[in-house]
Amino acid sequence: MTKPVILTGIRSNSDLTLGNYLGAILPLIKLQSKHSKDYQINMFVPDLHSFTTPIDHNNLYGNTISNLKIFTAAGLDIHNTGSLIYRQSFVPAHSELTWILDCFVHFGELSRMIQFKEKSASLSSVSAGLFNYPVLMAADILLYDAKYVPVGEDQRQHLELSRDIAIRFNHQFNRDIFVVPEPWDEQLKFADLSSGARIKSLKNPKMKMSKSISDPTGTILLNDDPKTAANKVLGATTDSVGIINFDLVKQPGIANLLQIIALLSGEPLNSTIAKWQGQTSYRQLKETAAQLVEAFLSELQTKIQAVSESDLLAKLQGDEIEVNKIANTKLYQVQQLVGLRN
Ligand code: TYM
Repeated sequence: MTKPVILTGIRSNSDLTLGNYLGAILPLIKLQSKHSKDYQINMFVPDLHSFTTPIDHNNLYGNTISNLKIFTAAGLDIHNTGSLIYRQSFVPAHSELTWILDCFVHFGELSRMIQFKEKSASLSSVSAGLFNYPVLMAADILLYDAKYVPVGEDQRQHLELSRDIAIRFNHQFNRDIFVVPEPWDEQLKFADLSSGARIKSLKNPKMKMSKSISDPTGTILLNDDPKTAANKVLGATTDSVGIINFDLVKQPGIANLLQIIALLSGEPLNSTIAKWQGQTSYRQLKETAAQLVEAFLSELQTKIQAVSESDLLAKLQGDEIEVNKIANTKLYQVQQLVGLRN
């Protein structure tokens, strides 16, 4: 019997942030250690997604490898044969399935994607790739029958679109060709989370922490010097309420620090909130978060140095042969259904 699939991807167009780590890498590592016997785990770099907005193409290949080193250092076990690690562009079926799915997705659906609206608003010229990218993401998921897709809250709408596409396609062809990924609430339960992670900028806690937003003091990069990163936390924007509460709307800066503390210390968010609720020292809260961030980065960076690039490349090359077989099998079934093969 085939095992259910847990799958996630992280783009490689820039350095990874603490948001990427807490929103996607950490949940995946936890799922790997908990479930790798019973589930197939796929971790991939969606390198084709990387230039939906302009990037420096000279750095793309190198960034992909260094981000994969980070996944490995963070605890993704490359010697675990139950986990597949690969690069999207090394598996051509992703692009081919995208084209087919494109013809089953409506223009209106894609126009409603919040991330498209947000990203396109800040660009003078918007690529068709940026518009289309949630369909490529659906292909990434549906090619492998992924049931669980640990992603941060910002990707929830894209995950839901993948479900809609799978349901529509299965219905139109009257076959359960695609596994429909679990709905968002089930994803959270499976990952033992009460809510999706949405780590905010330290400077502008209404915005998500992101490398593409140019606020270097609000974003912690996984390759930041640990002391500099701790200082960014100490300089985080809070509010004038004066009492610690977990209120995402009225006190987003404080809520952000509480989330970071909970996730880095491995405590449930509710216990962290209970511990700090009602206290008045924002300074102490920031210091606790800053210490956790500093210790976490020091440890991670030491581990990154120790990752063997040749072991990693060997793992990638082996797994890319394997995933091409899986992906091509699914693609062929879809090609048959749509009448391209008999
Ligand atoms: P990307 O590369 O923007 O982000 C990778 C993962 O990190 C999470 N994340 C965050 N989580 C919490 N707080 C933040 N501030 C934060 N910033 C980023 C994202 O939610 C994501 O889980 N389209 C995806 C990549 C992708 C993918 C896939 C994911 C392509 N195909 C298939 C899963 C399955 C993206 O652009 O994520």
